[in-house]
Amino acid sequence: MDRFNSLIAVLSLLLSVCVFPFFASAQLRQNYYANVCPNVETIVRNAVAQKIQQTFVTVPATIRLFFHDCFVQGCDASVIIASSGTNTAEKDHPDNLSLAGDGFDTVIKAKAAVDANPSCRNKVSCADILAMATRDVIAMSGGPSYAVELGRLDGLSSTASSVNGKLPQATFNLDQLNALFGANGLTQTDMIALSAAHTVGFSHCDKFSNRIYNFSRQNPVDPTLNRDYAAQLQTMCPTNVDPRTAVGFDPNTPNTFDNVYFQNLQQGKGLLTSDQVLFTDPRSKSTVDTWAGNSPAFLAAFVRAITKMGRIGIKTGGNGNIRQDCGLLPDIRKSDLETAIAYQMQSANFGRKSEIKSDLSSGPNKAYEWQEDVKQNSSMT
Ligand code: HEM
Repeated sequence: MDRFNSLIAVLSLLLSVCVFPFFASAQLRQNYYANVCPNVETIVRNAVAQKIQQTFVTVPATIRLFFHDCFVQGCDASVIIASSGTNTAEKDHPDNLSLAGDGFDTVIKAKAAVDANPSCRNKVSCADILAMATRDVIAMSGGPSYAVELGRLDGLSSTASSVNGKLPQATFNLDQLNALFGANGLTQTDMIALSAAHTVGFSHCDKFSNRIYNFSRQNPVDPTLNRDYAAQLQTMCPTNVDPRTAVGFDPNTPNTFDNVYFQNLQQGKGLLTSDQVLFTDPRSKSTVDTWAGNSPAFLAAFVRAITKMGRIGIKTGGNGNIRQDCGLLPDIRKSDLETAIAYQMQSANFGRKSEIKSDLSSGPNKAYEWQEDVKQNSSMT
């Protein structure tokens, strides 16, 4: 196959991953590791339980990490990759800087526990470990326990630029929220259910300070905020507050994953604009009202929504692998590079020699992509 055809093949693959991320779910299934690592779910659960005993922050930190992973390049643990000398990774994009370290630590500890078992070593992806850990922290904080689908591979790249425009902002209105979740194959109902993850965890003051100080000319305080709650927020977040100060999302049951989130919205106690709008916009209000009074209905909707979220843009086959270190893209062995260079030289690509050299010097991300490209070409000829 010539380069043009292989380019078309790569482009169609990219198109299918980008445009129809939710169709990529066919390969996920429960008990995916039954043959290679039958105890994987118990191993992960024990590691997560131990981590929660150290700090409850594990719960919100892990849930949010999974969300930010899935919405950027799919659920492929690309958010966990550390930046390198030549590459700024997803985790260093401004929208990800407030991800709490305990989420990353949960995955790293669970991965170490899995890999301590000889038959499981290097068989379970970091992306699946994050999906399992998320299920576990939700169940261990009073939320639903659901069967988690597995079979995701880890992504081969992670760039800060890929985060642009992919994550919702605290100031979003309903149309903006629906547009972003819709682009990931999620409905308004899914979006409302998933927003209830704000039943646990914290927000830094800067994410909502506009609502309590300079909302509009007539109303310095957002009129959709409960007045007493707004006054409490002003006390906790004075105008020149330390930027590290954070406030709990749920003032009533901060450490329980429950439908009190929706009851708070009914009382004007949604912390972010994007939370409160779910109650103030008539198009989403009835769902909030229903789930505020019906915990089982909310929990069932949440399980459906997070299962759908876990299918976004999954990597299978050649577009993923199993990372040994969840925070590092695999290094390419020198011998692989030499073989790849030799191949490139032979195959009418002489003119690209200098480009190849510069690719190799531009870090593991680029080199890995390039190596995959070469592999694909070699198998096609
Ligand atoms: C609907 C649109 C959403 C917006 C605008 C939004 C925005 C935010 C913001 C601004 C914070 C506070 C970050 C900080 O200051 O540290 C936050 C925290 C959090 N978000 Fe969201 N989020 C949304 C949806 C979700 C979803 C779908 C999930 C998970 C399913 C989620 C899970 C969390 C959790 C658990 C925290 C607390 C993190 C912690 O305490 O470490 N969020 N979110």
